[in-house]
Amino acid sequence: MPRLRVALVGVGGITRFYRRAYARSPLAELVALIDVDAQAALDAAHDCGVDPSRATTRFERALEDDVDAVVVNTPNHLHREQGTAVLRAGKHLLMQKPLAPTLADAEALAREARGADVVAGLYHSYLDHPLVHELRASVAAGNLGEIVHVYGRLTHRGGIAWSNDAVAGNATWRSSLAQTGGGCFIQLGVHYLQLATWISGGEPVAVRGSAANVMSPGIEGEDLATAIVRYKNGMQATVDTGWIADGEELAVAGTAATARYLDQRWWIAPGEAPREWRPPAFDDVDNPYNGHRAFLEACAGLKEIPVPLVRGLTEMRLVDAFYRSAQNGGQEAAVEAVLA
Ligand SMILES: NC(=O)c1ccc[n+]([C@@H]2O[C@H](COP(=O)([O-])OP(=O)(O)OC[C@H]3O[C@@H](n4cnc5c(N)ncnc54)[C@H](O)[C@@H]3O)[C@@H](O)[C@H]2O)c1
Repeated sequence: MPRLRVALVGVGGITRFYRRAYARSPLAELVALIDVDAQAALDAAHDCGVDPSRATTRFERALEDDVDAVVVNTPNHLHREQGTAVLRAGKHLLMQKPLAPTLADAEALAREARGADVVAGLYHSYLDHPLVHELRASVAAGNLGEIVHVYGRLTHRGGIAWSNDAVAGNATWRSSLAQTGGGCFIQLGVHYLQLATWISGGEPVAVRGSAANVMSPGIEGEDLATAIVRYKNGMQATVDTGWIADGEELAVAGTAATARYLDQRWWIAPGEAPREWRPPAFDDVDNPYNGHRAFLEACAGLKEIPVPLVRGLTEMRLVDAFYRSAQNGGQEAAVEAVLA
């Protein structure tokens, strides 16, 4: 089988953890590493062991004939424009989360994906973890009974550093409401909103939100946020996010049992001893759940893409409802089911 010729767009930041997946995969050949920062592109080429001539600052390189698949890893405000160009050029697309800073941009990109005759996927890094799949299967098998509540908390202290940078005159896109679409909630909340909905199989209908900027004056968005999501069947999910403290936890509570993750330990089956949590590396292409491996396999026609790009609209509708509620004193906001 010929290797898929892959271009990565935006090769700084988070790609340091997974760009080597494309160099390691037997399904791929990295033909272009694209970044507006020429040094970042060269560093990525070096890191991936590809010829430096494949590093470039030209986005249009991703649209050329000798590229089959494109992974977009740029700041949120570039996703719609770059993703649309990739799809219109007939290339397979894997888009970083969140889909876009706004629901309108996300819908526009999703429309493009629906009309395109290529693989269009969304990268949700938490789905790399086998235990998340095991938890979902356990819920589907009824081991926890009826799911009545999901609690997710994802926090880190990035906001303090980004705020300090901005105050010192080195603002990045994460300081900008327009470029990010919000603060910690759009960036971190999408992970646990996706997990709560995907694991429970529930249909979210409304959100109450609370957002504040407590200690990050250099950032326009919030650095602390809580959402309560109400589902059609009565289930609720609470998602806490923050950019000013560290920590992570997840609890899926059912009428028969509760599965928990806390402090690198998991309990899944009722009465089971806790297991240590060892997240797989994001560039581990031997992991069958690896999102980049799955994208390449889907492009090669070997299986379905696990998270179609249009699926990201669900989180974006929740994010949009969250911000509407937070701006309205926490009044419940309906989750819009709009896709023109
Ligand atoms: N899945 C996850 O867990 C996860 C984690 C972090 C970030 N992300 C997402 O990944 C995306 C990038 O985040 P990041 O943390 O890597 O940001 P970053 O700012 O660290 O890196 C972005 C890179 O894109 C480059 N870039 C900027 N404009 C560009 C353009 N027009 N064309 C090409 N390259 C351009 C920058 O030079 C930089 O190297 C965001 O959408 C973010 O939400 C996802």
